[in-house]
Amino acid sequence: MSRVLIIGAGGVATVAAHKCVQASDVFTDIMIASRTESRCKKLAAALKRPVQTAQVDADNVPQLVELIKSFRPDVVLNLALPYQDLHIMDACLETGVDYVDAANYEPPDVAHFEYSWQWAYRDRFREKGITALLGSGFDPGVSNVYTAWEKQYFDVIDTLDIIDCNAGDNGQAFATNFNPEINIREVTAKGKYYKDGQFIETEPLEFSKMFDFPAGIGPKKIYLLWHEELESLAPYLKPYGLKEARFWMTFSDNYIKHLEVLQDVGMTRIDPVIYEGHEIIPLQFLKALLPDPASLGPLTKGKTCIGCLLQGSKDGKPVKRFVYNVCDHEESFRETGAQAVSYTTGVPAMIGAMMLATGTWKGPGVFNMEEFDPAPFMQKLNEYGLPWEEIVY
Ligand SMILES: NC(=O)c1ccc[n+]([C@@H]2O[C@H](COP(=O)([O-])OP(=O)(O)OC[C@H]3O[C@@H](n4cnc5c(N)ncnc54)[C@H](OP(=O)(O)O)[C@@H]3O)[C@@H](O)[C@H]2O)c1
Repeated sequence: MSRVLIIGAGGVATVAAHKCVQASDVFTDIMIASRTESRCKKLAAALKRPVQTAQVDADNVPQLVELIKSFRPDVVLNLALPYQDLHIMDACLETGVDYVDAANYEPPDVAHFEYSWQWAYRDRFREKGITALLGSGFDPGVSNVYTAWEKQYFDVIDTLDIIDCNAGDNGQAFATNFNPEINIREVTAKGKYYKDGQFIETEPLEFSKMFDFPAGIGPKKIYLLWHEELESLAPYLKPYGLKEARFWMTFSDNYIKHLEVLQDVGMTRIDPVIYEGHEIIPLQFLKALLPDPASLGPLTKGKTCIGCLLQGSKDGKPVKRFVYNVCDHEESFRETGAQAVSYTTGVPAMIGAMMLATGTWKGPGVFNMEEFDPAPFMQKLNEYGLPWEEIVY
C-alpha cells in the first residue's frame, strides 16, 4: 500500500506509469505530474487504473514541495530530465520523501555529467532518514545490478564491459530514440574509461570494435562512450582486482554520418547563438526539428540487447560471462505505447521505486544501485517484462 509521484510524462514515464499500474499490490495511488499537464492526462487516459495528474515545474522547488505535501507520496520517481535532479532532491529533503531517478544530474549549460553533485547530498539524506536511489534505469541501473549479481561467479574481475545495442530500425533518416538533446550531448561528449586505477579520456567516439550480439542480432560496431555508472562501478570492483571498465554503444554508419555533419556545421552546440536578434541554442533548435521520440514508437522494429560482459577468474580458472536482456520494440509498443529504449528504462525505474516502497532496499542516504542486494531486483526484472539471460563462454 504505497503512493508514488511520477515526475515527467515522456517515453520513460509512460512505461513506468504502465508498470506501476500493473504492480497494483504495491502502488495503490499514483500521480503523474509534469511541465505539460495535457501529456499527463493523455498518458493517464491510456492506463488501466485511474491515476491523478498535475502540472508542475520541476525546476521550482517551492512548487514541488507544495505538490508533494498535497499528494503525500511515499516515493518520488523522477523521470523528467537530468537538469531537474537536484531541484527534486531538494524538494524530497524538505518534505522527507524517498527519491528515485534514472539519470545523473547534468547542468544545462555544460555537457558534463558525474555523480559528485548528487553524492554531495549523502549526509543530508542520512540525517533526514530518507533514501535516494540514483540511476534506476537500464544503463545506469540494471547494468549496476547485473554487475553486483555476477560477483558471485568470480574471485577476480579483471574487466567489465557494459554493452548497449539498439538494433531497431525506425525508418527515419536521422532520429534519436530518447530525448534528442540528452542523447546528442552524451554521444558528442569526450569518451572516458577506467584503466589501472585511473580514468582515461578519449576523443568522442575515438574507439570502436565489433561485438557479436545474441538473439539473432549478430555482429555490430560498438563505440566507447563515457557513461555514469563507471564512476561508481570502478571503485566498487576495485577489491576484485579490476583493471579495466568500459561502456560501449552501437551506432549505425548512417547515424554517425548525420551526427558528423550536424557537429561540423555547429548544430550540436549548446552555447547561445544570436539569430535575427534572438538567442537560440543550436542543439535545442535541432531538437525541435527532429522527430519526437514518442512518435517513433509505432515505427520502430527490431530489438535492443544490453548487457554486462565480465572477465576474470574463480578458483584460479578463467571465467567470462555475459548477462543481458533482449527487448523487442514492437512488443514494448503493443504493451505500453512506447518503444524498447523507453521500456528498458521505465521498467527498472518502477522496480527501483518498488524496492524502496516495500522496504526491500532500505536507506537512509544516497545510493547507487550496486550497493543493495541484487537478488530481489533480478527477480522483479523477470516478472515485469525484462527477463535476463546469460552466456557462459
Ligand atoms: N538510465 C537509462 O537507461 C536511461 C535511458 C534513457 C533515458 N534515461 C533518462 O530518463 C529520463 C526521461 O527520459 P525520456 O526519454 O522519457 O525523456 P522525454 O521523453 O524528453 O520526457 C521528459 C519529460 O520531462 C518533462 N520535463 C522536462 N522539464 C521539466 C520541468 N522543468 N518540470 C517538469 N517536467 C519537465 C517533459 O515535459 P514536456 O512534456 O513539457 O516536455 C517530459 O514529459 C531522462 O532523465 C533520461 O536521461 C535514462
